[in-house]
Amino acid sequence: MMNHSQSTGADYNYTIVRQFALTTVLWGIVGMSVGVLIAAQLIWPQLNFDTPWLTYSRLRPLHTNAVIFAFGTSALFATSYYVVQRTCQIRLFAPKLAAFTFWGWQAVIIAAAITLPMGFTQGKEYAELEWPIDIAIAIIWVSYAIVFFGTIAKRTTSHIYVANWFFGAFIITVAVLHIVNSMAVPVSLFKSYSLYSGAVDAMVQWWYGHNAVGFLLTAGFLGMMYYFVPKQAGRPVYSYRLSIVHFWALIALYIWAGPHHLHYTALPDWTQSLGMVMSLILFAPSWGGMINGIMTLSGAWHKLRTDPVLRFLVVSLSFYGMSTFEGPMMAIKTVNALSHYTDWTIGHVHSGALGWVAMVSIGSLYHLIPVLFGHGRMYSMKLVNVHFWLATIGTVLYIVSMWISGVMQGLMWRAVNSDGTLTYSFVESLEASYPFYFVRFIGGCFFLTGMFIMAYNVIRTVKASKDSLPAIAEA
Ligand code: HEM
Ligand code: HEM
Repeated sequence: MMNHSQSTGADYNYTIVRQFALTTVLWGIVGMSVGVLIAAQLIWPQLNFDTPWLTYSRLRPLHTNAVIFAFGTSALFATSYYVVQRTCQIRLFAPKLAAFTFWGWQAVIIAAAITLPMGFTQGKEYAELEWPIDIAIAIIWVSYAIVFFGTIAKRTTSHIYVANWFFGAFIITVAVLHIVNSMAVPVSLFKSYSLYSGAVDAMVQWWYGHNAVGFLLTAGFLGMMYYFVPKQAGRPVYSYRLSIVHFWALIALYIWAGPHHLHYTALPDWTQSLGMVMSLILFAPSWGGMINGIMTLSGAWHKLRTDPVLRFLVVSLSFYGMSTFEGPMMAIKTVNALSHYTDWTIGHVHSGALGWVAMVSIGSLYHLIPVLFGHGRMYSMKLVNVHFWLATIGTVLYIVSMWISGVMQGLMWRAVNSDGTLTYSFVESLEASYPFYFVRFIGGCFFLTGMFIMAYNVIRTVKASKDSLPAIAEA
């Protein structure tokens, strides 16, 4: 890592980083609360109170949009704006445009939180928002790219630190994915039809969907990992060569893997097989990132005993390794024949989403917030530790229950009697899933409780820094 000791916080634009860091915690609580609510609705359906905008079908996309685009993306905005300034040793380019990305993004989140429960949707997963909001997203994202790459262009350092490569790839690719997949013909302010039709529409949608996983939920968070793991461990990145090799391999491969979401559909068979093979190869560069992160701890393993922030980061890498082993397996057509449509997919999603995305963000925020607000420490490290255990146990309860439930569902659906009739009805498989839905709900409550504890800890840290400002000024 480069030496930042000459620079002080005053040199950098931390206002925007602070704003995004705080909204990450806020939107995390909102998005995960909706997650817990829909998890509860799957056990107690009456929790929709017979109100259209509280139905599962409307709240589910609200959950996914809130956790991915409000919580996860705010964490990426905060950390990328911080990291690019620190590693380029220069203030953010175009600060007004940066401020516009913050307020614009909040407006998009509010618009999503209003329109999704009202039932306005394009019906494309993770791209539900209607066309006027899509246009706003495109404008904000291009502004984000101008601020980020403008800062890189103005840098005072000779090289571009590896974290910025990952952030940069995430920013460019998400722009391309969003613009291409959102092409639509509007028929009114709240209704539009996709420009594509039939199998092509499905293909474009899952090219988008999988690369949202690959570039937003993976490359962006790897950027975060490449800055905060070495910083927190106090060690240099294990191998720069590995980081470059796995970066280019990841970029080259991810873009082909989308069809694994469409196995056994009307998509041409060869495209499905191509998607499967590319997904299998993808295992190698994915693990390149995990190995590089974990090996960065060489010589610093003992710190795990005392540092819960580092624990968050290392456990997130373990979940990243686990979900990127599981993903290629699920992409194999015969395995997918069992896992598809079952809770196994949901388990896979949340081992990536809670275990990797949320944990690496939380760990990074615990490093970042004291730098931005405090005097280098969170208000309570004990509470950080409590949060770590709640998050880890919550994630494990969630994913293990979904694995068992998913494999059970897959096996029950395919079981046939000797006369060829189905052994189980769908309702029987649903009944058998209830205990696991309950365990998932408890896991979700654990994770959410951790987020509330984090919010308390963050508020106290911010307050402590405000209270001591006069003292600092006098000193
Ligand atoms: C308290 C934590 C959470 C709980 C209780 C929760 C719960 C749920 C539930 C019940 C579903 C619907 C499952 C189904 O339809 O069968 C779901 C879907 C989903 N959640 Fe979460 N979630 C949580 C956190 C997160 C986070 C942090 C992320 C992302 C960063 C996330 C991403 C997703 C995605 C992408 C889906 C859609 C999966 C699919 O369509 O295959 N969730 N969640
Ligand atoms: C090498 C890496 C990975 C591969 C090859 C992979 C592969 C897969 C496969 C085969 C499915 C099931 C598709 C289906 O049956 O419908 C899937 C679903 C999913 N994966 Fe992964 N996965 C990987 C990593 C990840 C990571 C790290 C995350 C999250 C951070 C993630 C998030 C998701 C989501 C959200 C879905 C559900 C999509 C949906 O149907 O709505 N994946 N993945």
